[in-house]
Amino acid sequence: MPNNTVHVKVETKDPNLGTELEDIIGSVEGFGVQRADDTRRADLLIFELGDDTEKDFQIINSLLDVDAIGEVFYTSRHSDPAVLVQAMRTGGKEFFSQPIKEQEVRKALENFRERKNKTRIKEPGNIGQIIELIGSKGGVGTTTIAVNLAVSLAEMKGAHSVALVDRNMLFGEVPFFLEIRPNYHWGEITKNISRLDSTFLMNILSKHHSGVYVLPSPASLNGHDPATPEIMEHLLGLMQRMFDFVVIDGGQSLDDTSLRMLQMSDIVLLISILSLPCLSNTKKLLKSFHNLGYPSKERIKVIINRHLKNPEISLKDSEAAIDKEIFWAIPNDYRRTLSAINQGKSLSESASKAPITKSLRELGYALTKGGENQEKKGWRFLKRS
Ligand SMILES: Nc1ncnc2c1ncn2[C@@H]1O[C@H](COP(=O)(O)OP(=O)(O)O)[C@@H](O)[C@H]1O
Ligand SMILES: [Mg+2]
Repeated sequence: MPNNTVHVKVETKDPNLGTELEDIIGSVEGFGVQRADDTRRADLLIFELGDDTEKDFQIINSLLDVDAIGEVFYTSRHSDPAVLVQAMRTGGKEFFSQPIKEQEVRKALENFRERKNKTRIKEPGNIGQIIELIGSKGGVGTTTIAVNLAVSLAEMKGAHSVALVDRNMLFGEVPFFLEIRPNYHWGEITKNISRLDSTFLMNILSKHHSGVYVLPSPASLNGHDPATPEIMEHLLGLMQRMFDFVVIDGGQSLDDTSLRMLQMSDIVLLISILSLPCLSNTKKLLKSFHNLGYPSKERIKVIINRHLKNPEISLKDSEAAIDKEIFWAIPNDYRRTLSAINQGKSLSESASKAPITKSLRELGYALTKGGENQEKKGWRFLKRS
């Protein structure tokens, strides 16, 4: 399709209706149908509502919310006035009752084009950043930082759209940290990879009230197919198109699939604490990354968690030991982190003004564009406690 073509995605419950709509779209100049497996952002989605309209509207709302689609037109077998009202409230610019009328659809597409020309509807969104967190040891606070970093990115001024992916395959804990009760998890994706597009993914993600969209891991093994490197690439590629930030709690795993994630990550946060074994692991990990050839040095940022005021090993000595600059240090606060976990709340909710929360908020800033200057000045400038 040429560059200025309007990409339209059609999602219907009835395949015949889908073909009918696609034929009409294909016959209007300047419009092209986006194939089901094309994960690029659609300028327009034509969506057939099913029986569970509440769930459908929720998904579409989320897609519009994160700007994963430009506009939406609805169609439904039932033209119930309440559904119509809800469709208009949920961003619907058009509603086609069924059987659909070709002229009506054509007219709606022309109107879309006019709106697009007038208002210059946003160009396909930028590609989001993938931030992966790896613990140099279990229990160093990888999940705590991943969860609270995701929340701080979502709560930042000029709100970003943020997804949080739990890669701890067996003992994923993110739902506890955020007190969400997910209906779906990773397993659904590996099982249905051919159906994976933004609508399908939105259906699987659980939205936390901070605005973070969570992809939890399965609560048990239960015969779920493991995510292959190819599945991972497909999934992260899609998520990058849908969200400004994709934060991954990578835990400690370094299998082939995790390596693919590392390869795709824009930033890898290596979480450590100021203990000799942990610093030694950090050094070994940095060496492995160097040998692998990725992630490149600039993309890796070492974070010291549980930092005490007068540590036995100073940040400066640690930098010398691992032969790399330390990007950030997060203060030690066992009481507040544990209480937040036990309440299922983010630190921003449970201890909004605490130094640890401030540090995690500032980490969010430092990792976004606006924080580039701070980043250059390093930890000394930031007076991290
Ligand atoms: N900055 C911190 N200060 C004190 N304790 C922390 C800090 N970050 C995390 N913890 C504690 O460490 C424990 C393990 O945290 P968790 O995030 O589950 O680690 P991991 O994901 O690396 O296994 C939790 O009990 C948590 O309260
Ligand atoms: Mg963890």
